[in-house]
Amino acid sequence: MCGIICYTGKKKVIPILMDGLKRLEYRGYDSAGLAVVENGKTFMVKSKGKVSSLEAKLSDSSSEATFGIAHTRWATHGKPSEINAHPQFGCNNKVSVVHNGIIENYLEIKEELIEKGHEFTSDTDTEVIAHLIEQNFNGDLERAVLKSIEKLDGAFGIAAIHSDVDHKIVVVKRGSPIIIGIGENEYFAASDSTALAPYTNQMIYLSDDEMAVLNSTEYYIKNLSNEVLKKKVEFVDSDIYTNDKKGFEHFMLKEIFEQPETIENAFRGRIIESEGVSKLGGLEPVIDRLKNMKKLIIISCGTSYYSGLIGRYIFEELTELNVETEVASEFRYRKLKLDKNVAVLAISQSGETADTLAALKEAKRKGALLLGIVNGVGTSIPQLTDAGVYNHAGPEIGVASTKIYTSQLVILTLIALLIGRYQGMSFTEGKEIINAIKKLPDQIREILSNAKMIKEIALKYSVYNDFLYIGRLFNFPTAMEGALKLKEISYIHAEGYAAGEMKHGPISLIDENFPTVAIATDDLVLEKILSNMEEIKARDGKILAITNEGEKKVKKIADDIIAVPRTLPLLQPILNVIPLQLFAYYIADEKGCNIDKPRNLAKSVTVE
Ligand code: AGP
Ligand code: GLU
Repeated sequence: MCGIICYTGKKKVIPILMDGLKRLEYRGYDSAGLAVVENGKTFMVKSKGKVSSLEAKLSDSSSEATFGIAHTRWATHGKPSEINAHPQFGCNNKVSVVHNGIIENYLEIKEELIEKGHEFTSDTDTEVIAHLIEQNFNGDLERAVLKSIEKLDGAFGIAAIHSDVDHKIVVVKRGSPIIIGIGENEYFAASDSTALAPYTNQMIYLSDDEMAVLNSTEYYIKNLSNEVLKKKVEFVDSDIYTNDKKGFEHFMLKEIFEQPETIENAFRGRIIESEGVSKLGGLEPVIDRLKNMKKLIIISCGTSYYSGLIGRYIFEELTELNVETEVASEFRYRKLKLDKNVAVLAISQSGETADTLAALKEAKRKGALLLGIVNGVGTSIPQLTDAGVYNHAGPEIGVASTKIYTSQLVILTLIALLIGRYQGMSFTEGKEIINAIKKLPDQIREILSNAKMIKEIALKYSVYNDFLYIGRLFNFPTAMEGALKLKEISYIHAEGYAAGEMKHGPISLIDENFPTVAIATDDLVLEKILSNMEEIKARDGKILAITNEGEKKVKKIADDIIAVPRTLPLLQPILNVIPLQLFAYYIADEKGCNIDKPRNLAKSVTVE
């Protein structure tokens, strides 16, 4: 689930591995470690906590080693600790393994290996891989890895080295990303291209059940039937990987402020104004199927699920499609009647979310058309889908998603516009949507220019321990996303609710210590949410309202308001969420939280 970086070549490996680990830190982790080999001996250092603790432990190291593997761990099996950190090793300390993901049948394998005399030291599932390789090793590391993989169930990205096999690294991907970086007489492997950016722009994205063998003079890629494969080398623009906060205190704040540009990148070159329609090259190969489709199911997780929920309202408004939205972790286990007349659209920032991938595989088995909205170019989801659209929003380093969420909303609108124009939508309606989309970047700039005022309001509310967020229709998911942002980064309890549901339960919580954030912008349900706000006021609840400039009735009821510009109701969530992102950010900052890397969270969730 977390980070892998490996190097084999002629340069000193430890600084390269440490730099890679630092670049992977944004993904969230709880411990880190590395193993390098020099003169046939393994040198391993591991540490609980930050990469900087590992660095401190390495400060006296004079290692000249030129190949090795490193890892940041996000514990699934066994507590975060030095022993459980990766690399994991076999009994004789010769095999070292780093692993992202989960080995589902590790207990079975562990028992078998214990019977054969292996001694285990950690609580991880990963350790079985190291012992299995050790068991199968007879001088040929590649063969030993292949044989070991046959036994493993689950999702993994693995890298293995052996101290008797000079400069060789064997990596395998199944369900968890592995990218190969190609240099001159040096090769890299990583779980994320960000780690490779300073060293090479030539990368190969492994597909599931592929293995790469790297040494300092060559590399090759095979499938698990041991056949050599020819894979395309991608040239990745390394400029987009600047891990630089550009003067902002946190990546999250920088990413919130990038939204005028990321929104523009989402629609640039993708609209044909003269025809009132969008143009999405990635969907062209399937457009004939898509325009006759009866049903669309949107699947995703977390923040991407909330953008999918708004997507449902957008598709219902603009197309004749019957739309369902489902969290991927539920969808994958449901008994669903899918066939070629159903399109399944996966939304994912990372392109690697395990539940979303598994749900897509389920839909593929049943013959549905698979589509994706993904930011991570070349990642696993776009490799699996039939067609899709990239966000082109650049990497999002803050674990809490902000700029990708609003970019997803723009792309959902563009897809609905494309399909809608083949169905009942008129040119005028299409043109109206395009005009509104084009205004979004400036409208966001206007909201961002009020950051200071939003900060003052946030500080005032930072004293509370519980929050209710309410919204209706397009802004019901906005309420859930606003609440998620607050709880993710400030650890304050917050619940997002459909405002109409309030009277069916949560209203019992309301008193002077339980404030509500009401999303009350101008749409056909504004009057309804005003009534809900009255109900809250009648129970001494404080209200912060997100509303449009000049909404007198909202102003009268709410204790505080943040005004945002007006747009079409279906685009209004894009503007409404920006003050909610800032509100969460400033509260978390006031509380001194680790905003870019909140506890227990990971950026790319490649485990179930
Ligand atoms: C968002 O702030 C979270 N990091 C999380 O909910 C995230 O959106 C979710 O894990 C899905 O990730 P994905 O978009 O990469 O698939
Ligand atoms: N399941 C492994 C462990 O708990 C790997 C976790 C990860 O992906 O970082 O050690």
